[in-house]
Amino acid sequence: MKNKISKVEQGVILAAFLVCAVQIALIGYGSWKLGLVVPTCVTDVQPFESGKFITHASDRYEVHMVAKMWAFEPNVIRVPKGSTVDFYLTSKDINHGFQIDRTNINLNATPGAVNYAQARFTKPGIYAIVCNEYCGTAHHQMNGRVEVVDSTEPGSAEGVTGSAGSAAPAAGGLDTHPALAIFAKNGCNACHSLDGAKSLGPTFKGLYGRRVEFADGSSIAAADEAFMRESIQHPSKKIEKSYAPIMPATPVSEADIDQIIDYLKKSK
Ligand code: CUA
Repeated sequence: MKNKISKVEQGVILAAFLVCAVQIALIGYGSWKLGLVVPTCVTDVQPFESGKFITHASDRYEVHMVAKMWAFEPNVIRVPKGSTVDFYLTSKDINHGFQIDRTNINLNATPGAVNYAQARFTKPGIYAIVCNEYCGTAHHQMNGRVEVVDSTEPGSAEGVTGSAGSAAPAAGGLDTHPALAIFAKNGCNACHSLDGAKSLGPTFKGLYGRRVEFADGSSIAAADEAFMRESIQHPSKKIEKSYAPIMPATPVSEADIDQIIDYLKKSK
């Protein structure tokens, strides 16, 4: 007996071809006639350099989030409850994680790419933002928060450097000092604040000329240039009381050290 295709089989094969043809025709119609774009993983968005907080409506916000060693920019996002927030995330240096506690947000921050997720915040509260990808000595410090408030006040953000103008400027009009670039390059501000805020290491503000007590019980009456230089070049030699001996020895050129000392002298 010959292999004959039955009428039923012919019908099924024909139907399958028709379904395919209709689908292809619909895809073509959608993309050429209607201009529909099939969503991708948003990596065709240009990576950005600094964080941004954009208000579209009182309950609709867009955040351009920059992850970097070892901070998020912006690091505090405040929105009224019921807000929907679009997060666009990139990294300035290496891979970081970006997770918001008690939400569906869990993204990778990848240099050169932009990842996207949306969250709706219905319950007031503080939602921690953490980096969940090990990224170096201050990985555990890399965090921020979303504050969902039970009010009608418009949303806002903190910790944005650059143009937005909401960043805390360095004390004493130092916000254009060349030392800032040196701090950024070496990650100094992960542990040393510029504005007096408490952190892992002593703040840079008012450091020059102040009394310093060390872990071994000794002290100096006034932090001077020699002490600054030594602290940068041999950070484990003298540890200020109540701080951990965790500062890595960082190769900083003589010229850069001069700039840093100049900055510290001016940062009262
Ligand atoms: Cu960034 Cu861990």
